[in-house]
Amino acid sequence: MKKPDFHILVCNSYRIAGNAQGACNRKNAPQMIQYLTEGAVDRGLDVTVSSTGCLNICAQGPIVVVQPQNVWYGGIESEDQMDELLDALENGEEVEKYKISD
Ligand code: FES
Repeated sequence: MKKPDFHILVCNSYRIAGNAQGACNRKNAPQMIQYLTEGAVDRGLDVTVSSTGCLNICAQGPIVVVQPQNVWYGGIESEDQMDELLDALENGEEVEKYKISD
C-alpha cells in the first residue's frame, strides 16, 4: 500500500471504555477532523486525519499531532488555527506559537 505523506492525529478523548469524554472532545474535536480533512484536500496534500484516545495532556487540548514530523500542537480550536497548521504543512513549516513539543 502507499502510505500517506502525512498523518494528522486529533485527540478525541476516547477512554479505555470507548467513550469520548474529555477536554478535547468537548472543545470541537469531532468537527476538527472533517475540517482538517477537507482543508488538506483543498491544498492538494496527501494527508490522513484520524481521531485518537486521550493523549493525557487534556489541559492543553484540543491536541493535534502531525506525523511524521512528530509535532504536537495544543489549543487548536478555531478554523483559522487549523488553516495555519495546514498552510504550514503545505510549506514544510511548523507553527511555533501552538507547539507544545520541543
Ligand atoms: S482529552 Fe485530549 S489530551 Fe486528554
